[in-house]
Amino acid sequence: MSSRFGKEVSAFSLEGKFLRFELEDGYKRKYLQVGTLEGEYRVKLPKYLRSPMELNLNLGDVVQIFGERKFDYKKDSLKLKAERVIVIDRQPPAMTPATPVKRQTKAKASILVCQKSDCVKRGANGVCKALQASLNERGLENEVEIKPTGCLKQCKAGPNVVVMPDKTRYTRVQTEQVAELIDKHFTTDENTHNENVQQLALVGNRIFPVS
Ligand code: FES
Repeated sequence: MSSRFGKEVSAFSLEGKFLRFELEDGYKRKYLQVGTLEGEYRVKLPKYLRSPMELNLNLGDVVQIFGERKFDYKKDSLKLKAERVIVIDRQPPAMTPATPVKRQTKAKASILVCQKSDCVKRGANGVCKALQASLNERGLENEVEIKPTGCLKQCKAGPNVVVMPDKTRYTRVQTEQVAELIDKHFTTDENTHNENVQQLALVGNRIFPVS
């Protein structure tokens, strides 16, 4: 344990039930919320645990978190940063209540967006925000998930996006083309679909399915 400039830094270990992930920019996992007998805690995730492939949790999973605890005496604030998260007791995935279906969408849909440096330099973060905004506008935010992903090996043609489960890949995606992409894959309105297929073809040198 150390105390410098009114701050105390020490290791911590916490056991509790997973409640939710807190997102940054609407799609990046940044914090983990856990419930314990003493109350709820917000724990910052290390970068390597922010991908759903590395840390997959269901509501109520019992987790043990190891990490660093910083207490600032001046601000009276506590910050917890995880270094390791272990699942002690896994719960089955929560069943979502039946709700009226607004639009027909494909099962387990997600959009992978490369988050490596070449794609980020070419505007991947703006594309993520535009994708999230387009999904929200269409009421699809709970049906289609935007997932950050690693290098897709087309670095000079970024930003790179893959639509799942179709595995349709797009290169050089621009924010103004995102609405057409969403309509093409996730809405069933015939008029909208046809119009957008045509628009995509018109800008085909900048956005096109390669598989
Ligand atoms: S950096 Fe995005 S594909 Fe390689």
